[in-house]
Amino acid sequence: MNLFVTGGCGFIGANFVRYVLKRESTCRVLNLDKLTYAGNLASLAGAEEAAPGRYRFVHGDIGDHDLVAALFAEQAFDAVINFAAESHVDRSIADPTLFVTTNVMGTQVLLSAAFAAGIPRFVHISTDEVYGSLGPDDAAFTEKTPLAPNSPYSASKAGADFLVHAFHETYGMNTVITRCSNNYGPYQFPEKLIPLMLRRASRDESLPVYGDGGNIRDWIHVEDHCLGVYLALTKGSSGAVYNFGGHAERTNIEVVRTLLGILGKSESLIRFVQDRPGHDRRYAMDYSLAEKELGYAPKWKFSSGLAATAEWYAQNTAWLDGVESGAYRNFMQAWYGNRL
Ligand code: NAD
Ligand code: DAU
Repeated sequence: MNLFVTGGCGFIGANFVRYVLKRESTCRVLNLDKLTYAGNLASLAGAEEAAPGRYRFVHGDIGDHDLVAALFAEQAFDAVINFAAESHVDRSIADPTLFVTTNVMGTQVLLSAAFAAGIPRFVHISTDEVYGSLGPDDAAFTEKTPLAPNSPYSASKAGADFLVHAFHETYGMNTVITRCSNNYGPYQFPEKLIPLMLRRASRDESLPVYGDGGNIRDWIHVEDHCLGVYLALTKGSSGAVYNFGGHAERTNIEVVRTLLGILGKSESLIRFVQDRPGHDRRYAMDYSLAEKELGYAPKWKFSSGLAATAEWYAQNTAWLDGVESGAYRNFMQAWYGNRL
C-alpha cells in the first residue's frame, strides 16, 4: 500500500504511521502535516530509520489545493487517510474560526483533489462527538444515530462528515468514515485530560476537574483505534461509517482518581473548577458493526492501558518537557536544516 496520511505528526496520526509501517513491511507513507501547535516531529522520531525509503514527511496544509494536487500528481496513492484537524474542544470554544477552516474547508479541498486525482479510497477520521450527548440510561451511539453536535469542534467535524458523505453520494467516491471515542496513550498533547492530569499530578500541581466531574467518556487505547482505522482502510465498505470504542465508560472523576492511585498521589490535588460551556454529559459507542463487518476487537483493557500510559509518560519526560518548553517547535528547523 502507498498511503497519503494527513495530520501524522499529531497524537493519533503519529501512532497510526508507526503502527502501519510496522504492520505492513512494504507499506509506504507520505505524511502531510501543517505542524500546528499540536504537530510534533519528535512523535515520529526514528520512523524514517525504522522504515528506510518508506516514510516521507511533507510540511503543508490540507487546505492548500495546489500543494495537495501536486503531491497527488507525483505518485499513485492507494488511499488518503485524513487525521488532520483542529482537535481540542476548549480551543474551539475560545475561537471557532480555525476549526471551520481546517476541519470543514480543509477536508473539502482534500476530497476534491483526491477525487480529481482518482485516488481509490478516502478514509476520514471522525469522532463520537458528532452524535451529541447521551443521558444516563440512553443506549450507546450507533452509526444510525442522528448527528447532533454541540461544540464548534464537533459541529466542524460533523460538517466534514457530511461533505465526505456528499462526495460518496454525488461523485461515487470510495469513502469510509470512522467515528471513535476518547483516545489515550503515548504522544498525546498535554492539553487533553489524561496527559494533563498525569503531568500535573507528577509535580503535585492541582488537577482541574470541570463541573462535578460526572461527565462520562468511553475510553479507547490509541493502538486499538489504529487497528480500527487499519481495518476500515483494508476491509471497510465504500460509503460506510464505522464506530470504534473501548467499552470503557468512566466518569472524569473516576479517571482522575485512578490516575492518582497509579501515581501514589493524594486526592487532595483535585479541584472542581467552572464547567466547560455546552459540556456533553456522556458518550458511549456501540461498535458492533465494526466487530461484525471488520472483525474489530479492542485489545486493551482500560485498567492496564491506563497504567501503561502513565508509565510511558513517566519514562518519556523528554518528549513532555519539549512540548512544555516549546522546544518541540525547533524540530521543524532541525528537519529543514538536515535537508537544505
Ligand atoms: P491532534 O490535535 O493531536 O493532531 C492533529 C494534527 O493535525 C497535528 O499534527 C496538526 O499539526 C495537524 N494539522 C492541523 N491542521 C492541519 C492542516 N490544515 N493541514 C495539515 N495538518 C494539520 O489530534 P488527534 O487527537 O491526533 O486527532 C486526530 C484526528 O482524530 C482528528 O481528526 C480528531 O478529530 C479525531 N479524533 C480524535 C480523538 C481523540 O480522542 N484525540 C477521538 C476521535 C477522533
Ligand atoms: O470523544 C472524542 C473526542 O475526545 C475527540 O473528538 C477530541 O478530539 C478529543 O479532544 C476528545 O474530546 P474531549 O473534550 O472529550 O477530551 P478532553 O481531554 O478535552 O476532555 C475529556 C473530559 O475531561 C471532558 O469531559 C472534559 C474533562 N476535562 C478536560 C480537561 C482538559 C476536565 O475535567 N479537566 C480538564 O482540564
